[in-house]
Amino acid sequence: MNSINNVKIIEFSPKGDSRGQMVVLEGNKDIPFDIKRVFYIYGSDQDVVRGQHANRESEFVLVNVAGKSKVKVIDVKGNEAVYSLDKPYVGVYIPSMIWKNMYDFSEDSVLLVIASTNYIPDEYIRDLDVFLGEDNL
Ligand code: TYD
Repeated sequence: MNSINNVKIIEFSPKGDSRGQMVVLEGNKDIPFDIKRVFYIYGSDQDVVRGQHANRESEFVLVNVAGKSKVKVIDVKGNEAVYSLDKPYVGVYIPSMIWKNMYDFSEDSVLLVIASTNYIPDEYIRDLDVFLGEDNL
């Protein structure tokens, strides 16, 4: 599989006992930034492609806490990689200035997204050509 600089899989350590599993995500510890925002995506059909943007500021960790999805990441040079998310104890860290498409959602997919910023619509780049054009600036 291709890899992209600084995008990385993070495996969390479930705290399991006879009652079941728990994953704890603390900012600047399990998650490599201060956590400012959490949202989750569910109920997306399999043929839906979400995301389709890059962020100038925000860093993210994505975890499929239930079900499965895939995320395709593209860097500013056009290098691509695909990560399959299908375990509640595995996340993918995505730094700023990486394009991301989330797709192939299973019916039971709940995709948890942890972000380093509050929601600022202006920091989103929603045009892939504009994003790839940033390489020449
Ligand atoms: P959108 O960016 O289209 O989601 P995705 O990247 O998963 O495809 O966001 C969907 C809607 O939710 C849109 O109206 C903007 C709003 N929104 C917020 O208000 N706050 C947020 O933090 C996010 C991510 C989205």
